[in-house]
Amino acid sequence: MFSEQTKIGINGSIEIPGDKSISHRSIIIPSISSGICEISNILKSDDVLRTMNAFKEMGVEIKEENKKIIINGKGLGSLKKPNKEIYLGNSGTSARLLTGLLSSQNFESVLTGDKSLSSRPMKRITNPLSEMGAEIVAQNGKLPLHIKGKVLNNCKIEIDIPSAQIKSGLILAALNTEGTSYINEKHITRDHTEIMLETFGADIETKKNVDSSQIIINGKKNLTPKNIDVPADLSSSAFFIVAALINKNSNITLENININPTRSGLLIALERMGANINIFNQKNRAGEIVANINVKSSELNGCELDEQMAKLMIDEFPILSIAASQANSPSYFKGLDELRIKESDRLELINDNLNRCGHYSKIKNNDLFIDPTKNKQIINSAIRTDFDHRIAMSFAVLGSKIGKLQINESDSINTSFPSFKEQFNRAGGNLI
Ligand code: S3P
Repeated sequence: MFSEQTKIGINGSIEIPGDKSISHRSIIIPSISSGICEISNILKSDDVLRTMNAFKEMGVEIKEENKKIIINGKGLGSLKKPNKEIYLGNSGTSARLLTGLLSSQNFESVLTGDKSLSSRPMKRITNPLSEMGAEIVAQNGKLPLHIKGKVLNNCKIEIDIPSAQIKSGLILAALNTEGTSYINEKHITRDHTEIMLETFGADIETKKNVDSSQIIINGKKNLTPKNIDVPADLSSSAFFIVAALINKNSNITLENININPTRSGLLIALERMGANINIFNQKNRAGEIVANINVKSSELNGCELDEQMAKLMIDEFPILSIAASQANSPSYFKGLDELRIKESDRLELINDNLNRCGHYSKIKNNDLFIDPTKNKQIINSAIRTDFDHRIAMSFAVLGSKIGKLQINESDSINTSFPSFKEQFNRAGGNLI
C-alpha cells in the first residue's frame, strides 16, 4: 500500500465504526444474560468476529437481522463445551476476557491465536485467576491456554498492571462465582465492562478514587437482557482527527463518538498541543458518554505527558506520535512500557518508523522523545508494521502529509477498521 501527498486536506463525511472494546462486551455480556438482546452498530472487524464465533461455538444463538445482531442468552452458566479449540486470531481482548469467563464454566476449553497473540503475556490474567482457584495450563505463560472450567472461590485481588482486559476477565469470572468478590485496580482503566454490567442489572458497584478503583461484585445474579447501541470508536476516530489536524485545509465532523473519560486522554493531549477541536452535543447513552467532534487543521505544539496520561490513551500513542512529529516543538511521552506488549512492540515500531521517515525520535527507559525541529525529509520509506493495525493506520496518516510511504502488511487494518482505506481516501488521503 502506498500513500501520496494530499494538498486538499481531509474533509467530507466520515462514518466511524462501532467501538471495538464495547463491541466485544456487547457479545460476551448478552450471551450470558437471560434473554434476547438486539445489538446495533456493532463493529464487524476481524477481532470482534473472533469473539462472536467463540460464543457460537459454545452454543449461543447469534444471528443478524436488519443490520442488528440478535443474541439469545441463556444465563450465566449456560455456555456449552465447544467441539474444538477456540481460535481467537489477533484479539488480545477476546483472549483475556474469555480466559476469565471460561475459568468458571463447567467444561474444559482451549484458547489459541495467531503468531502475535501467541507471543503476548497471559500470566497477567492466569495468575490472578489462580487466586480464585482457576486451573489453567499455559505454554510458558502464553497461548494455547487449556482451561479446566470449575467452581471458583470469591476473591479479593489487587491488580498492579494497568489493564482493562485483566480487570474485565476477573469481573467475568466473579459474575459466575458465589459470594462477594473485590477487585482493586491500582490504576484506573477503561470501565466499559462495569458500565454495561450495571445496565444489565448485575450486582456490581464501582468505587473510584483519584487514580485507583475498587469493583465489588456479588456473583450468581442473573443478568437482565438489554438492547445495546454501540457508540463510535474514539480510537478509530483518532486517525481521522490527527489527519485533519496535520493537513492544511481540513475540516471534519465525527458523530456519536464515545468519549468515556477513562479512554479520552488523546483529546486532552491534543488540546494541550493547541489542536482546534470542538466537542459538542454530548449525550449519555446507557452510561457511556457520546459526542460529536469537529476538527480543523491546526498548528500544533509539542507536549509532555506523564505515566498517568498513558493509561487513559494507551492505544493512541502511535497516532499521537504522528501528530507530535508534525508539531512546532518537541514532545515527551512517559511510561510507555505497556506499548511493548500490544499487537506488536509499538514503542519500537513508532520510533523505528519515524526514524525511517527522517523524523527525529528516540526511546529512553520506555519514554518517547520526539523532536520535529530536527526532522529531515526522506521519501520512499517502507513502513514496518509487524501486522499491527494501529501502526499501519498511523503511518498511513503520516503519508497523507509527507507523501510516498509504503505501508507493509496493511491488511491488518481489518482487525479494527475494515472501511478505513476507503473512507480515508474518500476524505482526501491517498492510500493505494
Ligand atoms: C482493551 C484494553 C486495552 C487496550 C485494548 C482493548 C479492552 O488493553 O489496549 O486495545 O477492550 O479491554 P490492556 O488491558 O492490555 O491495556
